[in-house]
Amino acid sequence: MGMQISPSILAADFANLERDITRVANADWLHVDVMDAHFVPNLTLGLPVLERIAEVSPMPIDAHLMIDDPDHWAPRYAEAGATSVTFHFEAAANPVAIARDLRALGARASVALKPGTDVDVVLEHLKEFDMVLVMTVEPGFGGQSFMPEMLPKFTTLRAAATAADHPLWLQADGGVSRDTIEDIAAAGCDVFVAGSAVFGAEDPAAEVTALRDLATH
Ligand code: DX5
Ligand code: ZN
Repeated sequence: MGMQISPSILAADFANLERDITRVANADWLHVDVMDAHFVPNLTLGLPVLERIAEVSPMPIDAHLMIDDPDHWAPRYAEAGATSVTFHFEAAANPVAIARDLRALGARASVALKPGTDVDVVLEHLKEFDMVLVMTVEPGFGGQSFMPEMLPKFTTLRAAATAADHPLWLQADGGVSRDTIEDIAAAGCDVFVAGSAVFGAEDPAAEVTALRDLATH
């Protein structure tokens, strides 16, 4: 599998979601940010909206849960149609149990780390996860600047996955653009979330292609 581009609908027009999703139908995954105004200081959408998005999206749904109590909620998002469910390590009581529940439902099990959380917390259980999302901004809002000091996290995680012979996806989320994507890819990342870079572009589909090309070469 090559480099995956996952446009974040946080930067789309919430009154025209289906139209905007169709505009990026050449993307690999569709990133859906779920926020609860508790884990992060912002509120977006929940299960009923994600369920309809999954029905109309040509791309598999990459759900990013920035919510409290993922132990309870993460499996519900798999049942609602998300192909991949990412929950935050910081919010989880039992991250390994959540990952096992997600896999049992046929979803990709993914754990996210805030900028202040060390990668060490997942290294011990790396094989329980299909993906690790490295936050490259503080979660909560689109349009923030990429934090280059997060790059060593990808290097460490990629080396650990390779050493364990584990096919782990590594996702970058926050500030991914034409200016930053090559450095992130070089560090070992292979799934790129991009909100404002894609939906802020004149031609969102062309931007997806441009980002994928830059990540690949
Ligand atoms: C932020 C969200 C991101 C956001 C990225 O908390 O998790 O997915 O949409 O937005 P950009 O690409 O604009 O940094
Ligand atoms: Zn996100």
